[in-house]
Amino acid sequence: MACPRTSAPSRKEVFHTIYQTSYAPFLRLLEKVPCEYAGHTPQFQSLVHHLLQWAWERGLFPDMTEDEIGLIAALSAYHDAGKAMLPPTLLYKEGPLTLKEFEVLKTHPEWGEFLVDLAIPELRGTTTHRFACEICRWHHERWDGGGYPDGLKGNEIPRYVQVVALADAYDALVAPRSYRPPVRHRRAANMVYGGECGAFWPPLLAVFAERASSIQQEVYGEKPDPPEQ
Ligand SMILES: [Fe+2]
Ligand SMILES: [Fe+2]
Repeated sequence: MACPRTSAPSRKEVFHTIYQTSYAPFLRLLEKVPCEYAGHTPQFQSLVHHLLQWAWERGLFPDMTEDEIGLIAALSAYHDAGKAMLPPTLLYKEGPLTLKEFEVLKTHPEWGEFLVDLAIPELRGTTTHRFACEICRWHHERWDGGGYPDGLKGNEIPRYVQVVALADAYDALVAPRSYRPPVRHRRAANMVYGGECGAFWPPLLAVFAERASSIQQEVYGEKPDPPEQ
């Protein structure tokens, strides 16, 4: 008889189980999305995990389990899977996009949901499928309805997707791009908190602001920035 567990599975164990079971099709899909990691730092999933954990500690996710936190953090890696359907000339363009190009870019959340559903049809009806589809489709929605593709507002956006959305905005700033150096952490935090990346769920934004220095030091392993002039 197997020994009963005396503690919750570690994050590593949860990730391992997911990768061994439902993740193989996702991994194949991700191989087609090199822009994903070009546009983000390797710490992106860890940021999602930490934010979910801190928000949970603050009582913002009373019903969420540790396994679900691990699952969402793991699935968040695929939020931009829909970019696989966009022309590389647009994805790798050096410099700002034209309005027309931006309209094309804005189709990637719907493509992502479509691709993910195709990649894991056997998981339809499961939490993994729902989380993956919602993350892909809604990670650019904003609390005030100013996002896309559906213009959802407030609690119409699943709260855990708001966490992925905030992490996406922040990590995209601190990651280097071909046309600009990385934005410094303190500046990036001020930009997100100040609304320059759109509106986010206010209690989550409060957790983010409170943890700004932990994000820089614990998640990204960097020394604190000097105060902004
Ligand atoms: Fe995106
Ligand atoms: Fe992204």
